[in-house]
Amino acid sequence: MTAAIIDGKAFAAGLRQRVAQHVARLREDHGLVPGLAVVLVGDDPASHVYVRNKGEQTKAAGMNSFEFRLPDDAPESALLERVAALNADPAVHGILVQLPLPKHMDAAKVIDLIDPAKDVDGFHVVNAGKLAVGADGIVPCTPLGCLMLIRDRLGPRLAGLNAVVIGRSNIVGKPMAQLLLRESCTVTVAHSKTRDLPALARSADILVAAVGVPEMVKGDWVKPGAVVIDVGMNRIPKADGSGTRLVGDVAFAEAAAVAGHITPVPGGVGPMTIACLLANTLTAACARAG
Ligand code: GUN
Repeated sequence: MTAAIIDGKAFAAGLRQRVAQHVARLREDHGLVPGLAVVLVGDDPASHVYVRNKGEQTKAAGMNSFEFRLPDDAPESALLERVAALNADPAVHGILVQLPLPKHMDAAKVIDLIDPAKDVDGFHVVNAGKLAVGADGIVPCTPLGCLMLIRDRLGPRLAGLNAVVIGRSNIVGKPMAQLLLRESCTVTVAHSKTRDLPALARSADILVAAVGVPEMVKGDWVKPGAVVIDVGMNRIPKADGSGTRLVGDVAFAEAAAVAGHITPVPGGVGPMTIACLLANTLTAACARAG
């Protein structure tokens, strides 16, 4: 079997277009322009690239983009003050504080201060709790994007399927598991202490890899016909020593020979994250519009 490739780039482009259409209607019907504020602390080059892309795509969707930068050595109080000001700003519907933060800052404390109604990352404990109890809240962007791709391939009926999520982060693994549970999948969350991970992975109709270990999931970990979602974005040296290349957490060629559907890296899950961020910002603005 050779897997069908899940084109996240195309799916994300379609989603961004739908968001842009809604934004245009919101502007016409309610005179409301959704605004997304992104706060970046320090000089991490990867974070700068993400933040630039977010700003460009926010504007392309017809929304207002507000960007705030703080130096690497800024005190935590400066970031907390910035978040408090954005909470109070009626032009801002979504707030995203780019992670990771410098070591002297407490990310949990910062996220906790964000108004849950503006927490478009879905990281606030109120939104995490809502997801856990099945209430409407803001869902983290990456797992939301993964679920959209899974639904696109398997249709709306995921009930009873075995889902294995490798990785237990608050950003991807745990919310992904909650979303799949909400779809009535039988969900197992695997992590670094899991025993016989290859055998567990082989039981999965839906396999989500979010661990940050390059090409960890091998072809013989994959159940024939499974849907494989690769959240990994790992830079590794090229074989010829000329720079680096981006690979996922799945050994793509091996896994694609066994899976039914698989996301590539790049061009799979990655583009979905920003598209879902825009969708979450639109939802937050609509909630305000009533
Ligand atoms: N850093 C890498 N990915 C993300 C994300 O989805 N949200 C935030 N806030 N920071 C990130």
